[in-house]
Amino acid sequence: MNFSSYDKEFQGKRALVTGGTQGMGLAIVRRLAGAGAKVLTTARNIPSDYHIPNVHFVQADITKPEGTKAIVDAVKEKLGGIDILINMVGGSNSPAGGALALTDEHWLEELNMNLLGSVRLDRSLLPIMLEQGKGVIIHVSSIQRTLPLYESTLAYAAAKAALATYSKGLSNEFAPQGIRVNAIAPGFIQTEAANRLIDRLAVTAGSREAALNQLMDSLGGIPFGRPGLPEEVAELAAFLASDRAASIHGSEYVIDGGTIPTV
Ligand SMILES: NC(=O)c1ccc[n+]([C@@H]2O[C@H](COP(=O)([O-])OP(=O)(O)OC[C@H]3O[C@@H](n4cnc5c(N)ncnc54)[C@H](OP(=O)(O)O)[C@@H]3O)[C@@H](O)[C@H]2O)c1
Repeated sequence: MNFSSYDKEFQGKRALVTGGTQGMGLAIVRRLAGAGAKVLTTARNIPSDYHIPNVHFVQADITKPEGTKAIVDAVKEKLGGIDILINMVGGSNSPAGGALALTDEHWLEELNMNLLGSVRLDRSLLPIMLEQGKGVIIHVSSIQRTLPLYESTLAYAAAKAALATYSKGLSNEFAPQGIRVNAIAPGFIQTEAANRLIDRLAVTAGSREAALNQLMDSLGGIPFGRPGLPEEVAELAAFLASDRAASIHGSEYVIDGGTIPTV
């Protein structure tokens, strides 16, 4: 893909992208830093080969209040402020077995990972944005918030639904003060983790193609014919983070190749 017309669009901007060592977070880090932003990213583990020009890293667990504190300290120390906050971290570790297999602990873990991590970071960094009268916040929900899947991810889907509602409320409250809050709802995105899952399923499905089709079928099919790519999500995030999206407030952008079949 060639996005050279926006080569230096983020020059002078300071961005925090959580979960930027893998998947969509990594693609967004590369996209923003490539267009001139000074970027700070976070994860629990830093890969030994993680060297991207203009990108700083802080090790932190977003599900814990002390993780939020470490990230906020690093924003002040390494970026000297913040213009763009992209809350990427999310996911599910719940077991299979449907709603009755989920304990309080599973629910709390999903809520911490998919809702409260973003809430804590927003609450800590919004005062800096309010002081400068400008800032962009992006939340990452999921199509599962409107299309909950069977088996293991009901708590995840419900937490993402809460995140989307929270995102709208935050936008309503802070848009008049120059803060732009929006959300991205990805469908099936072919990250490294998805590729590993496809490899595992291929053993019983017979081939990678059969495994991929099996995964797409479990979503009811993808009309576009393939999963999205992390770089495609990064392009949407870059647009929403840029001044080109100045009048877009309180929206959620679905990027799913048409997976959700209803309006
Ligand atoms: N992939 C999809 O198809 C899909 C679909 C819909 C929505 N989403 C959403 O999109 C977002 C990104 O998904 P992805 O699949 O691109 O993610 P991913 O490849 O699983 O990467 C997750 C990133 O977050 C970090 N991370 C995980 N847990 C963390 C924690 N407790 N504290 C700090 N960092 C943590 C990981 O590093 P460490 O493990 O080292 O901490 C990694 O950098 C998530 O919110 C996910 O729910 C994904």
